[in-house]
Amino acid sequence: MKALILSGGKGTRLRPITYTGAKQLVPVMNKPILWYGIENVVAAGITEIGIVISPETGDEIKVRTGDGSRFGARITYILQDSPSGLAHAVKVARPFLQDSPFVMYLGDNLIQDSLDLFVYSFESECLDASILLKRVADPRAFGVAKLAADGRVLELVEKPQVPPSDLALVGVYLFSPAIHAAIDRIQPSPRGELEITDAIQRLISDGKVVKASELAGWWLDTGKKDDLLEANRILLDTCLQTTTLKVEGRDSQISGRVQIGSGTTIIKSVIRGPVVIGRNCHIENCFIGPYSSISDAVTLIETEIDHSVILGGARIESISHRIVDSVIGQRAHLKTTPQRPKALRFLVSDDSQIELV
Ligand code: TTP
Repeated sequence: MKALILSGGKGTRLRPITYTGAKQLVPVMNKPILWYGIENVVAAGITEIGIVISPETGDEIKVRTGDGSRFGARITYILQDSPSGLAHAVKVARPFLQDSPFVMYLGDNLIQDSLDLFVYSFESECLDASILLKRVADPRAFGVAKLAADGRVLELVEKPQVPPSDLALVGVYLFSPAIHAAIDRIQPSPRGELEITDAIQRLISDGKVVKASELAGWWLDTGKKDDLLEANRILLDTCLQTTTLKVEGRDSQISGRVQIGSGTTIIKSVIRGPVVIGRNCHIENCFIGPYSSISDAVTLIETEIDHSVILGGARIESISHRIVDSVIGQRAHLKTTPQRPKALRFLVSDDSQIELV
């Protein structure tokens, strides 16, 4: 069994963050989203991993993620020239996959469940495809599955107006090599992409065995800002370990589950976990509230933050209002004067969002 992790794409929904970096490398609880997927795959005993990358962000993903040795795996990078769809990514990866069965994992998805059981039932039942599903409140925004009583998939519908069930397709699939012939027989969809749902539908129409399993734990698609913040909240809630503080915390109060990296200085601040703070940060006269993840080399002075993700090298000073529900990009600089500001001065990149609420 091999794994194929899709880490190309356009990332339009997470602009402007994705103008300068890959969305799969955006940190959740200070770790790139992509790495959770790699770890999940390796935990299921799969160590031959192909990662599909785009020309725009592929180099950054390669440099950060490496050859896989840090995960106990072997990673092959596969360049997809254009973001022409999930099934197109499989097509491009064919020389890597050869005739092996494989797990396909979307690099911006996070799931709580381990993959072992899904892999086991896929192999023991000799399935051609197995899809993972999660019940959602409003299935109209997702691919939705219609199932028979024995768990066989009867039909898949993309973003249906009248959903046949509340079972949405999660971004994790298992395929036998039969998927390649199915992909060869589909045409691009109206949005111009080779859709994996069309290829699976083709398998079903050809009488192949396609089954579904329902996830028990959470599933998070981090493609948009609020989803990213929700993923950060849930991971901090469920996975953050308390560490012994080896931090210079002068005149500070640090309570709850808080993780702080080496070289970070905290002066006259209040930190209420769950919070993770990276290495070489400087935090002075601040309040950092629950569900905040602060990456490496961030400077925060006279600032209040909660339920936010701050990326590496950002600097925030003397903001008189609490910063909430925010994602602040790498090296961004936010500052006001300590007095009540009389004017606002911006240098803001395309597609940025600023809300003064
Ligand atoms: P999506 O989130 O569906 O697409 P996207 O990354 O282009 O984002 P947006 O809709 O915001 O523009 O992709 C799911 C995952 O699959 C993501 O990790 C990117 C990856 N992907 C590829 O590797 N190749 C592709 O052709 C596509 C469409 C996605």
